[in-house]
Amino acid sequence: MTRVAIVTGGTRGIGKAISLALKDQGRTVVANYAGNEEKARAFTEETGIAAYRWDVGDHEATLAGCKKVEEEVGAVDIVVNNAGITRDATLHKMSFEDWNEVMRINLGGCFNMAKACFPGMRERGWGRIVNIGSINGQAGQYGQVNYAAAKSGIHGFTKALAQEGARFGVTVNAIAPGYIDTDMVSAVPEAVLEKIVARIPIGRLGHAEEIARGVAFLTAEDAEFVTGSTMSINGGQHMY
Ligand code: CAA
Repeated sequence: MTRVAIVTGGTRGIGKAISLALKDQGRTVVANYAGNEEKARAFTEETGIAAYRWDVGDHEATLAGCKKVEEEVGAVDIVVNNAGITRDATLHKMSFEDWNEVMRINLGGCFNMAKACFPGMRERGWGRIVNIGSINGQAGQYGQVNYAAAKSGIHGFTKALAQEGARFGVTVNAIAPGYIDTDMVSAVPEAVLEKIVARIPIGRLGHAEEIARGVAFLTAEDAEFVTGSTMSINGGQHMY
């Protein structure tokens, strides 16, 4: 029996690397995506991994999407909450919508996915949830009160749900990536990014595969004693 894993935002960037790493581990992987049909189709053609579309920030759509996966693929034992967006701006320029969308998708998405999949894991006595937080949720970041608050919330959410899952064989952990060479980071203005890279002791951006390695570790069959933890993968930028 292979275990079914859902990776949210799993067709691009860090999510794509995670989907591939879990597939290499022998999991049956489903990649969720929000909107980019073309990229999702290309992803499935390239990797053979099925892609399912829904907005993780939409509660009803997430329950329906996960139900469809259960019916078509099987009960979900592994969830990687990777989907996230940025709407960077200093507070005086940030709109309520910028705040709300980031909270709705980045933090609300974790709640919605857990509501859909955690009860089944609990009943079956086995589960792995990995939430992708951020160095900016640990340390804060100029221009990101929304993103830093949502990511910091993910770290708290992880520790709370880990306590609830522990007796039922369900582990819940977080990874806090630093700056990784994805589309999200390349959207940061070049001059700002140069200054950020200068503060990374290893001296470069991370690669998506370096985050995926952490997810593979935390979701492994023999990782049951690791729960409620946050794994920082950031090139030494923030030692926490
Ligand atoms: N600390 C102190 N001052 C800073 C600063 C910092 N870190 N960064 C910028 N400033 C200053 C600027 O020097 C400038 O000062 P002057 O006006 O005196 O020249 C001022 O702040 C600019 O302020 P504005 O409100 O006018 O900002 P802006 O509208 O030009 O842009 C910003 C602000 C959009 C936040 C831009 O600085 C930015 O994009 N920063 C990068 C934010 C970032 O790191 N995002 C991470 C995205 S990737 C990600 O999030 C993935 C992950 O998990 C790691």
